[in-house]
Amino acid sequence: MNTLITNIGELTTNTGAGILDDAAVLIDDGRIAWVGAAADAPSVPGAEVVDAVGRAVIPGFVDSHSHLVFAGDRAAEFEARMAGQKYAAGGIRSTVAATRAATDEELRRRLRGFMDEMLAQGTTTVEIKSGYGLTVADEERLVRLAAEITTEVTFLGAHVVPAEYAERPDEYVDLVTGPMLDACAPYSRWIDVFCETGAFTVEQSRRVLEAGIARGLMPRVHASQLRPGGGVRLAVELDAASVDHGTYLTDDDVAALAASETVLTLLPGVEFSTRQPYPDARRLIDAGVTVALACDTNPGSSFTSSMPFCIAIAVRDMGMTPVEALWAATAGGARALRRDDIGMIAPGARADLVLLDAPSHVHLSYRPGVPLVTRVWKDGVSHG
Ligand code: NIG
Ligand code: FE
Repeated sequence: MNTLITNIGELTTNTGAGILDDAAVLIDDGRIAWVGAAADAPSVPGAEVVDAVGRAVIPGFVDSHSHLVFAGDRAAEFEARMAGQKYAAGGIRSTVAATRAATDEELRRRLRGFMDEMLAQGTTTVEIKSGYGLTVADEERLVRLAAEITTEVTFLGAHVVPAEYAERPDEYVDLVTGPMLDACAPYSRWIDVFCETGAFTVEQSRRVLEAGIARGLMPRVHASQLRPGGGVRLAVELDAASVDHGTYLTDDDVAALAASETVLTLLPGVEFSTRQPYPDARRLIDAGVTVALACDTNPGSSFTSSMPFCIAIAVRDMGMTPVEALWAATAGGARALRRDDIGMIAPGARADLVLLDAPSHVHLSYRPGVPLVTRVWKDGVSHG
């Protein structure tokens, strides 16, 4: 099935072609077949023609960090935080209890709801982590359910030490790196760990990541969310695709990231929802760090699934330009997932595109909170 989107007022390609005015894109069977000036568009007999009426088209958002398989919510915790209480990673355990009690069908229904919600907001690729099961059977269940809807599945058995192992955390790491990894690896592409005081030490994190790597999974790391620590340098040392959060980075962390292939994925929804300081993305980009943006959708620290919302914060409060923030939310996410078939509009790439009800991508941050995403193509199939 061919679709020609023409009369595009502004097309952000994320390639050497840059941002094109008066452009057109041809989609052929789920892939982008041609990109160029509308006046030069090929005429394809039988193609569906979509007139963008001068509006902007951007690549679909690549949300490279989410925790979507869970039950319950923690609205009361959020309310208490807004009244002055601090975020504590221990809240994860209450979601673990709710998730363990949920049926597969309930978790599936919620997952489908999140996927619909995200697609409607322009997200065409989503990474999903486990981490609210924390037993062999429950973690296996969560990665299995995640694998039903995305190829970007991350095993995060090392999210926190569950209550039943509170006194013997190293035994929990044995479980994660042994039977739990055995059960989860077949469904997963990634191994992740929450390397933070109150979760896992650098040495425990290293064990988890190295065990995953030995099983053919690729590493990504949660680090420096609550205070500076050694997680960023561990991620760089192990050539992790991404290290995520980075709310509290040292100059050494920044230098190590800048000299590496590891992407720093910023999660502005977390600072928004926990009232922590926003990281200074300008400092990172100027130092040469590759920055991605993601939502970190989860019931504790960030319950938004809106990439436009994260872009708006990144521009308003983190020193990114609109074009940098859009790149970070698309091509940056693709880099964080080590994918070269998404995050750009170029011949051969997947036909994942978003039509905005706006003349320019700048409106994503200029008109925060306004549902500008009017039509989304995922693998060439139109939604909305
Ligand atoms: O990415 N940092 C650890 N995990 C999640 C929070 C999970 C929760 O609070 O339930 C995060 O912010
Ligand atoms: Fe997270």
